[in-house]
Order: sequence, then C-alpha cells, then structure tokens
Amino acid sequence: MINYEKFYSDRVKPMKGSAIREMFKRMADPSIISLAGGNPASELFPGAELAEIANDILTKNPAGALQYGTTDGLPAMKECARKRAEKVGAVNDDDQILIMTGANQGIDLFAKALINKGDKIIVESPSFIGSLNAFRTYECELVGVKVESDGMDVCKLEEALKNNDNVKMIYTIPTFQNPTGTTMSLEKRKKVIELANKYDVLVLEDNPYGDLRFSGEDLPTLKSLDTEGRVIYAGSFSKILSPGMRLGYIIGAPAILEKIEILKQVNDVHTPVLNQMMCVEFMNKYDIDEYIEKNRRLYGEKCNAMLDAIDKYFPKGKVNYTVPQGGIFMWCECPELNDISPLVDKALEKKVAIVPGSNFAIDIKAPSNMFRLNFSSATIDNIVEGIKRLGEALNEVLD
Ligand SMILES: Cc1ncc(COP(=O)(O)O)c(C=O)c1O
Repeated sequence: MINYEKFYSDRVKPMKGSAIREMFKRMADPSIISLAGGNPASELFPGAELAEIANDILTKNPAGALQYGTTDGLPAMKECARKRAEKVGAVNDDDQILIMTGANQGIDLFAKALINKGDKIIVESPSFIGSLNAFRTYECELVGVKVESDGMDVCKLEEALKNNDNVKMIYTIPTFQNPTGTTMSLEKRKKVIELANKYDVLVLEDNPYGDLRFSGEDLPTLKSLDTEGRVIYAGSFSKILSPGMRLGYIIGAPAILEKIEILKQVNDVHTPVLNQMMCVEFMNKYDIDEYIEKNRRLYGEKCNAMLDAIDKYFPKGKVNYTVPQGGIFMWCECPELNDISPLVDKALEKKVAIVPGSNFAIDIKAPSNMFRLNFSSATIDNIVEGIKRLGEALNEVLD
C-alpha cells in the first residue's frame, strides 16, 4: 500500500473536511429529521420553469450554451448580478463585477489574491465554516471577534485591529449571519467601515441571505456605506434561485477583481455558461422578486413554527437562542453544558440532526456549548417534530 500522507503538501496535511458534510453521511437514514444543513427550501425551486428554459436554450442556441465562455461571466449575467446589487446599493459605476461559481469561489479566490502565510484575517466568531476553511488553506491566522445579538463586537474589533500586525481584511456576514442568524446594526456597520478606513484594511462583505428578510427593516449594506473602495461584496443566487446552479458574484475595485479574474482563469476558466444563460432567461421571463417573496413568506412561517416549538418543547430557561429577522438559521446556547456533543449524539439517537457550534469556531478543537438550527429546509411538520425530539434530548442530557 502506498503511504499517500508523505505526498501531501504541508498546507493540506492539517485540513479536515467540513464536519457538517461528515454529518450528512451519518444522516443517510431518511427517517432522520435534519435541522443541520444550510439548504434552501427545495419545495419552491422553479423546476418546471427552468426545464423549459434549458430546453429552449439548448434547442435554439446549443453552440452558445455549450462552448467555452469568458472568465468574467456573460455580459447579460453580469447585468443580472448588477441589478441584484443595485437594490442594496452594493455597486458603484466604477466597480467591476465578476460572475463566480458560487459566492464560495469568490471568497476563496479573494483570500488567495490577498493572503500570504502568516497574514491575519479578522472574522466573526462564530462564522461560516466554508469561508473559515477556505482562509485556513492559505496558512493565515484567523482572529475571531465575538458576534453579539446586533453583530460583531466593534470594541473588540478595534482591539484586534490595534493589537495585530499583518491584518489584511475583515470578513463579515452582516445580515442574517451564518451560523447565528443575527444582523449587524446600522451603528456597527458604520463603525466597521470607520475602523477599516482607520486601520487601512479591506472588508469582505458576504451577503447570500440579505434578500430573505421576513421581519424588521432593511439595513444598508457595508458596501453602500464605503466611500474608499475598501469593501468587496460577495453575492449569490444560491439562496434566491438555486444553490445547485452555482451562481455567485463579487463586486468591487477593478484593480483587485483583475487579480481574482486571473485566479479564476486558472481555477475553473469560467462559470458554466448554460447555468448563466438559464439564470438570465429566468430573470427576463419571470419576476425573481416575486419568487423571492414566496421564499421569504415561507421562511418566516418556518421560523415562527420553530420558535413556537422551542417555546413549547425546550426546557424552560435552559437554552438561549437568537430570534432572526430573516435568513435560514438560528443559534442556541446551553449555559449549563460545557460541551454540546452529548446532546448532538442524543438527538441523533432520536433521529434529529443539529450542528455543534465547534464547527463554526476559530478553534475547532475547543468544546462548545452551542448549536445551529436551520429552519429553511425541513417541512413545518418536521420542524415541529424535530424540535420536540430535541426538547426530549435536552431534558435527558440536562437531567
Ligand atoms: C455565509 C455564506 N457565504 C457563502 C455561502 C456560499 O454560497 P454559494 O452557494 O453561492 O457558494 C454560504 C452558503 O451556505 C454561506 O452561508
């Protein structure tokens, strides 16, 4: 047998796959109710509409759809991304737009363009595992700043900026954050921009959930508050159309996006042309905002069903949880536990899956007494049943 270990690069040796994806393997049993993943509601996917569009494109313009495309994306697709970004003030006349194979690729390649070994990235703690893992592959140091109910602690952010050399960027998901479901207040948004200017760092604003508000008032994006060209904005069609189509985009200063375009060229050449054409045609033929509105309403109902079930089935006063105004996640803390693992195992015995908080931590080895709940993908009946079973598991573990 070959010892493959010795061939691995130092960069790759310490890397672990996403524990959430590992968990999916344990969840192969279809009777398990998953409150673990981050999938949008598949019941609303416009399958019939997209089938007709795909058929039309491949019949009328097979050469256009099946040939190589340009790295930056189809002009019509860039226009679609621009329209989405304009709604939240996330694009200026002199900005460049790049279509990415999911926002994830934009985040990864932005870090690749910026980060040298030993550089630092300030991230929210906890934060999105996909981005944290992407950053880790560039051998940087992640400096965590705690997320509060109204976004990251900006006093701690200033301390982190003051006390650390080589900080290249702040990575934030200000709206309906993954995993906490919290939204950064307007005051904090302004402060983040002020601090980025003061300490001369860039900001990566990741906003895949911004369109999914079901209560409260919209807040300006960080990108719209930026007057110096410091914010790079990552947007996505994953949560408003289909994650499987892998359509995302980044917007920002042309000098930086030029570098990212070169990295994309060597990475995947371009985002699949057929998917881009389908998205463009969908947006031409249908009102995507109407489709998003259906999603918002459904997510609001699902979130309320989860909150009501938590109120009914969780042991009183034993679990703190966030109340999101949009997005797809909420975040729970069990102050009486040091480590959430026994609860995760007990819940799986009862056939309900949740994600332990350590997955979203900067130090993934440190025990966490928190867990994430997703309310977009399960049906309302399963959400209620899942929370009921989780309540039973909590009662047993906290006994
Ligand atoms: C915060 C955050 N950023 C980025 C992404 C990736 O989005 P995409 O599917 O566009 O790659 C996700 C997906 O779950 C996410 O939660």
